Amino acid sequence: MNPVKWSLYTLLVFHLFQFSTTIDTITANHSIRDCDVIFSGGRVFALGFFSPGYSVKRYLGICQGNLVLYEGNQRTAPVWSTNVLVTSTNNTVAQLLDSGNLVLAQNGAKNMLWQSFDHPTHTLLPFMKLGLDRRKDADRFLTSWKSLDDPGTGNYSYRIDPSGFTQLSLYKGSVKWWRSGSWTGQRWTGVPEMTHNYIFNVTFVNNKDEVSIMYGVTDLSVLTRMIVNKSGIVQRFT
Ligand SMILES: *[C@@H]1O[C@H](CO)[C@@H](O)[C@H](O)[C@H]1NC(C)=O
Ligand SMILES: *[C@@H]1O[C@H](CO)[C@@H](O)[C@H](O)[C@H]1NC(C)=O
Ligand SMILES: *[C@@H]1O[C@H](CO)[C@@H](O)[C@H](O)[C@H]1NC(C)=O
Ligand SMILES: *[C@@H]1O[C@H](CO)[C@@H](O)[C@H](O)[C@H]1NC(C)=O
Ligand SMILES: *[C@@H]1O[C@H](CO)[C@@H](O)[C@H](O)[C@H]1NC(C)=O
Repeated sequence: MNPVKWSLYTLLVFHLFQFSTTIDTITANHSIRDCDVIFSGGRVFALGFFSPGYSVKRYLGICQGNLVLYEGNQRTAPVWSTNVLVTSTNNTVAQLLDSGNLVLAQNGAKNMLWQSFDHPTHTLLPFMKLGLDRRKDADRFLTSWKSLDDPGTGNYSYRIDPSGFTQLSLYKGSVKWWRSGSWTGQRWTGVPEMTHNYIFNVTFVNNKDEVSIMYGVTDLSVLTRMIVNKSGIVQRFT
């Protein structure tokens, strides 16, 4: 995985309330630079730059409608971008939503070009789908960090495994380390704790278009996330 992907995503889970900035969008005319922070409308999530441990490369902007991460300034080549082709930049906006999803869209969100929820790292937020989009041939799965200082791809991945009966599997490299058991209609057979939950409304879909699981929350004020930690433990924080 591109080692820079994390910087967008991880920061979304920090809750920063001290800053005075109130914008929730990045446009062609308004890029953000180090020390800038943008907030989602309800100030639930923030987006900006940060360094875990000794990381130093962190600049962000918009070029040709793409969301592009530059090192240094816009005259150097981008080090990361959303990699979508956009013919006109003047109505392309990256907006941070209160769900924590960063969405690149045109024409007032009618035409979505890219969203961070399709590119998870080690964190699963409510209403984010985990699993395969069969139409786009895209797989959304979690991967552990290398270490607390290094958000590069670690050894563990947590993904929907559609071979045999569909289940969630935790892999260490290519070795299956743990599996959830099949879906009963309400929960994974191997996770009886899911029976009595008053926080989540879970949606499991398995059809020709997709196989996915989405842990929603019934009370939108509940802040919760699931991560695959560096040691290959799946943790839920609420
Ligand atoms: C930019 O937006 C304006 C107003 O919507 C439109 O008239 C113009 O053609 C756009 N420019 C380009 C290069 O697409
Ligand atoms: C960006 O700035 C240009 C030049 O000032 C202006 O024509 C355009 O409408 C602006 N676009 C947006 C989205 O504000
Ligand atoms: C991943 O596994 C390899 C082989 O077991 C090990 O050498 C390496 O330290 C592991 N990496 C992390 C980040 O734990
Ligand atoms: C889960 O709860 C939220 C908030 O009440 C609601 O918007 C959403 O439609 C629910 N989803 C399901 C699958 O019930
Ligand atoms: C991963 O989670 C387990 C269980 O909560 C914990 O003991 C361990 O310290 C965690 N590892 C890291 C690197 O956070």
